[in-house]
Amino acid sequence: MRPALSDYRHLASGKVREMYRIDDEHLLMVASDRISAFDYVLDSTIPDKGRILTAMSVFFFGFVDAPNHLAGPPDDPRIPEELLGRALVVRQLDMLPVECVARGYLTGSGLLDYQATGKVCGIPLPPGLVEASRFAAPLFTPATKAALGDHDENISFAHVIEMVGAVRANQLRDRTLQIYLQAADHALTTGIIIADTKFEFGIDRDGNLLLADEIFTPDSSRYWPADDYRIGVVQTSFDKQFVRNWLTSPESGWDRAGALPPPPLPDDIIEATRRRYISAYERISGMSFDNWIGPGA
Ligand SMILES: Nc1ncnc2c1ncn2[C@@H]1O[C@H](COP(=O)(O)OP(=O)(O)OP(=O)(O)O)[C@@H](O)[C@H]1O
Ligand SMILES: [Mg+2]
Repeated sequence: MRPALSDYRHLASGKVREMYRIDDEHLLMVASDRISAFDYVLDSTIPDKGRILTAMSVFFFGFVDAPNHLAGPPDDPRIPEELLGRALVVRQLDMLPVECVARGYLTGSGLLDYQATGKVCGIPLPPGLVEASRFAAPLFTPATKAALGDHDENISFAHVIEMVGAVRANQLRDRTLQIYLQAADHALTTGIIIADTKFEFGIDRDGNLLLADEIFTPDSSRYWPADDYRIGVVQTSFDKQFVRNWLTSPESGWDRAGALPPPPLPDDIIEATRRRYISAYERISGMSFDNWIGPGA
């Protein structure tokens, strides 16, 4: 008999995930089918999104050479039946208060920073870079975690040293870049550019630095289709392209600058988005999503 979710105490809700306490040392990390766009959590959900992103994260935890917080397999007996495939048992860690971002390409807040200062997070860059320019080598661009609803704030490496000390700061930077390079090189061979990504690290009882949270999901990373890559323009997002296009089209009737939240998504947009997530997972992992665990399996 698997436990009921009500056996565990609910600890926290993020935009798309929930955390529960299993025991003194373990947490249950649950991914929902919720989707966010333009800083709103939408009313519509994408069926299977939680399972697909969990499958991606598990694939990459196995793929990269770095110790991580997973404390059991996806079919761990501590996972309630109805959450199979979208919940993971993890070791509870002392989380470091730094969002460890690796950027291979210039976009988003990095581009804004560059346009204002010629640097990203204090790292000087050559002149003439534009939207989607590829860096000669990926950058470590740390940020501090903002309160719910706020944007994370980019910080300098010196600031990271102040927060966690020089030894840890160097370890965070080196590991972040190494993991990003390893995964991005692989993704590119499958036609997907991982333009940037965010990791969170924590410390276990023995003082080891472990990779935590989720990794290389489209929620924590920018996925771009490599076929469509063009420098100088905003790239299409692999996963949310249909959602964003529809929300900004006249059909949705939604005013992005207005005060109202976005309307529910039509069924065909939901299904196209679901297909996108499955396609990204299958391309990157080389596995069929049909074989990923789910309730009743
Ligand atoms: N192994 C772990 N031990 C302790 N805390 C963890 C571990 N892995 C992840 N976390 C924390 O659990 C939380 C995951 O929640 P989630 O990402 O859903 O919410 P959030 O980061 O607060 O919000 P959002 O990502 O929606 O902006 C984060 O605070 C993360 O730092
Ligand atoms: Mg988070």
